[in-house]
Amino acid sequence: MNEGFEQPVMMKIDKIIDESDDTKSFMFRHNLDYNPGQFIMVWLPGIDEKPFAISSFGEDFFGFTVLARGNFTKLLHNMKQGEQIGIRGPFGHGFSIPDSIKDGTGSACIIGGGCGMASLTVLIEKLQDYNTTILIGATTKTKLLFKNRYKDITLFTDDGSEGRNGYPTDILEDLHKKHKYNIIYTCGPEIMMYKVYEFCRKYNIQCEASLERYMKCGIGICGQCVCDGQMVCKDGPVFDSQALGKMSDFGSCSLLKSGQRVSLKEYGEWIGC
Ligand SMILES: Cc1cc2nc3c(=O)[nH]c(=O)nc-3n(C[C@H](O)[C@H](O)[C@H](O)COP(=O)(O)OP(=O)(O)OC[C@H]3O[C@@H](n4cnc5c(N)ncnc54)[C@H](O)[C@@H]3O)c2cc1C
Ligand code: FES
Repeated sequence: MNEGFEQPVMMKIDKIIDESDDTKSFMFRHNLDYNPGQFIMVWLPGIDEKPFAISSFGEDFFGFTVLARGNFTKLLHNMKQGEQIGIRGPFGHGFSIPDSIKDGTGSACIIGGGCGMASLTVLIEKLQDYNTTILIGATTKTKLLFKNRYKDITLFTDDGSEGRNGYPTDILEDLHKKHKYNIIYTCGPEIMMYKVYEFCRKYNIQCEASLERYMKCGIGICGQCVCDGQMVCKDGPVFDSQALGKMSDFGSCSLLKSGQRVSLKEYGEWIGC
């Protein structure tokens, strides 16, 4: 039977996978009641608790993928197989799959940027037998995540060190002419997701984007993750075109840890991307 946890449950790290020079995946032998796009809260007792997407999922296992950024993620990177971590969740609203994709009459596109790919991996696996285009972008080749997990993907790097030189959004127009997408899913830098959203609006395609905001409780209590009245932890993190269209902060502003509202450019400088 699958389970979800309201309170942290201590779980032993079964395996650690080096994904790149600054990114590791942590695997657990446990079943969870999970939908692609949901997230878990990861607890290091005495340190903090932070949100992470599930990047691997099966009947008796799951995993999440961590980019080393600050104190918490660096401590996680120092952990060893067999050590224990607290897990709460999964929480939030995940991706939806329209009937036109399930019955094979429609087509989908999945666009991931940098560590945002972690939120899309299980969705990609769920859609692999359907008509789906996968585009993965990163600043440089060492930051391209999960590129060997899938066949038929198109890679992009900002510096041209691997795949095509440029951004996944550069070829959307041509791809849409060929595939006539019904839905485009995206997770990554918000500037990229906003471009995808605008493209979808122009061509009347359904868009689903997974937003990242600073989170504390993860369950809609503290208000830290609010984006134009929507709780990213509870109403999201995945939002559809209709909800995104009502969020004036999407693509323009975010909240710092202190609660201060800043432009996405300033927020990007703070998070270092
Ligand atoms: C829904 C969701 C899913 C996420 N999934 C992943 C994932 O799969 N892999 C991954 O590497 N990261 C993911 N993150 C971001 C992750 O939570 C931060 O990288 C992590 O908390 C950084 O903590 P730190 O102490 O190492 O760094 P810090 O130096 O404290 O922060 C670095 C940056 O990480 C972000 N961050 C820090 N604390 C939080 C927090 N409590 N809530 C949200 N963002 C925070 C902020 O943008 C911050 O500027 C996700 C965030 C959200 C909201
Ligand atoms: S993190 Fe507390 S309300 Fe969303």
